[in-house]
Amino acid sequence: MAIETETFLEYLVVEYRWVIVILALLPMSAAWKLWSIIRNYVVFKMNSAPKMHDDKVKEVQRQIKEWLSGDKSTHLCTARPTWQTMSFRHSMYKRTFTNIQINLVDVLEVDKENMTVRCEPLVTMGQLSRTLAPLGLALPVVPELDQLTVGGLVMGTGVETTSHVHGLFQHVCLEYELVLADGSVVNCSKDENADLFYAVPWSYGTLGFLTSVVIKVIPAKKYVRIHYYPFNNLSDLAKRFSQESLKPNPHQFVEALLYTRDSGVLMLGDMVDEVGRDGKLNPIGVWHAEWFFKQVEKHLKRKRTAIEYIPLRDYYHRHTRSLFWELQDIISFGNNFIFRYLFGWLMPPEVSLLKLTQPEAVTKLYNKAHVIQDMLIPIELLEKAIAFFHDEFEVYPIWLCPFKIFNNPGQLKIKPGEESQMFVDIGVYGVPKAKGFETIASTRHVESFVIQNQGFQMLYADTYTTREEFRQMFDHKLYDRVRASLPNCKEAFPEIYDKVNRNVRK
Ligand SMILES: Cc1cc2nc3c(=O)[nH]c(=O)nc-3n(C[C@H](O)[C@H](O)[C@H](O)COP(=O)(O)OP(=O)(O)OC[C@H]3O[C@@H](n4cnc5c(N)ncnc54)[C@H](O)[C@@H]3O)c2cc1C
Ligand SMILES: *[C@@H]1O[C@H](CO)[C@@H](O)[C@H](O)[C@H]1NC(C)=O
Ligand SMILES: *[C@@H]1O[C@H](CO)[C@@H](O)[C@H](O)[C@H]1NC(C)=O
Ligand SMILES: *[C@@H]1O[C@H](CO)[C@@H](O)[C@H](O)[C@H]1NC(C)=O
Repeated sequence: MAIETETFLEYLVVEYRWVIVILALLPMSAAWKLWSIIRNYVVFKMNSAPKMHDDKVKEVQRQIKEWLSGDKSTHLCTARPTWQTMSFRHSMYKRTFTNIQINLVDVLEVDKENMTVRCEPLVTMGQLSRTLAPLGLALPVVPELDQLTVGGLVMGTGVETTSHVHGLFQHVCLEYELVLADGSVVNCSKDENADLFYAVPWSYGTLGFLTSVVIKVIPAKKYVRIHYYPFNNLSDLAKRFSQESLKPNPHQFVEALLYTRDSGVLMLGDMVDEVGRDGKLNPIGVWHAEWFFKQVEKHLKRKRTAIEYIPLRDYYHRHTRSLFWELQDIISFGNNFIFRYLFGWLMPPEVSLLKLTQPEAVTKLYNKAHVIQDMLIPIELLEKAIAFFHDEFEVYPIWLCPFKIFNNPGQLKIKPGEESQMFVDIGVYGVPKAKGFETIASTRHVESFVIQNQGFQMLYADTYTTREEFRQMFDHKLYDRVRASLPNCKEAFPEIYDKVNRNVRK
């Protein structure tokens, strides 16, 4: 990265961070991963988690009752340390709120008859796909990165390349079990406590503590057949991308990566059981494989469409090993074949460990010259939005993922009268090259573009909106009503805005 750093020491820390990452973080990450896989496998096989679950919920209740019996002068939050979450930021409220330990890490039950899985909130996507795959099952929406948790995806949001069919992660969840601020346990679904059920997504833990979730599952096949279509014209790409997303019988997976303002690759995929003769098998998850976004870029250079077969789990976690393209800024030679053959099997470092060991100099740099944003825009505005983002940020690659929002009650309002509306997630991660980029001003411009166009911003990232703008972006009618109706809720939890705005994060 070309950067201006203030001192020689800062220069060393930033330029040579990879030394620490390789020597310490990679082995620690691998050991942690191995331990979790074994532990989760044993617990799931022994079926001990369901028996323990009720006791763990009681323990959450006990902690809340203890708070209730005090003067209730502090708010409540989960005790999960901020370095463990995927968001690049540290939330400052953890230090002042009463921390509630939620040690709920297991898959509770897979119900093949009703095609559901019941999980505790700290179950990760990697853990879940690993548990479901041998049973021939998958979640309809599998947000990419191994370490994303069910709780974070419910309370925040989650999206994937199947979301143009199934909606966001919240739309494949059927039931939530919560411990509320008065210490009671409730279940909610579209038929039971419906207001609460619809207010929970995007509430960021400000209505209650999630203790289990029932999620839909679907039958899985072994491979994803992907058809790559390179484009050298943004209008053409945007038009085709929308058509494919809105079709009555669309492909199961739709995604695009933009490499410049005018060039990108559209990917259309479907699950299949066998590798066909029209393309070759590409196990992109093997330890020495090239980073996926680099492989996709080759199709652009070749200027030809191509077909490949990718093993299903490899596909689901295709951007995990390079953390989309964030890792290239930390280990610039990470995709070099020598590095891949030597250390590829250790990749990626855990985001949590990266955060825990991030030196102040790197944080400063990220604040000054790094964008991480997912902006959710009505799909017909894709081309216009890319032009706008280009002027403000100029960061490539850009991730494009179509998704549907159903017209449910809750924080996300769509066009009135429609049953659902198609959006696109525009993911911008990297070092901005736009002339005149200035973190706050540029992000504010983009945020107002999003609000004016009835879009949304993912809240794991920095939001610089004011409270009024935030309430314009997210409808608070149902949310406010639910908060007013739940006993002790306002004493126990701040509003969403007060947990996510840039001023309360470091
Ligand atoms: C590198 C990176 C890659 C990403 N990739 C994707 C992607 O591919 N697809 C995608 O959809 N999203 C992606 N995201 C965004 C992701 O959806 C959010 O970060 C999401 O909130 C999940 O994060 P988490 O599991 O770390 O949850 P956390 O950050 O731990 O939690 C999010 C919020 O939920 C609350 N919460 C969590 N558990 C509970 C509970 N049990 N009870 C009450 N409240 C709770 C927390 O208080 C917090 O406010 C990515 C983010 C990053 C940083
Ligand atoms: C499936 O759901 C039905 C109705 O909700 C329920 O009666 C049945 O017990 C469930 N099946 C299993 C295996 O739990
Ligand atoms: C909530 O639902 C789960 C099953 O999904 C059940 O085991 C539990 O008893 C229910 N809790 C309440 C309070 O009804
Ligand atoms: C892209 O293609 C459209 C027609 O589909 C054309 O009008 C436009 O000029 C092209 N843009 C570029 C940059 O080539």
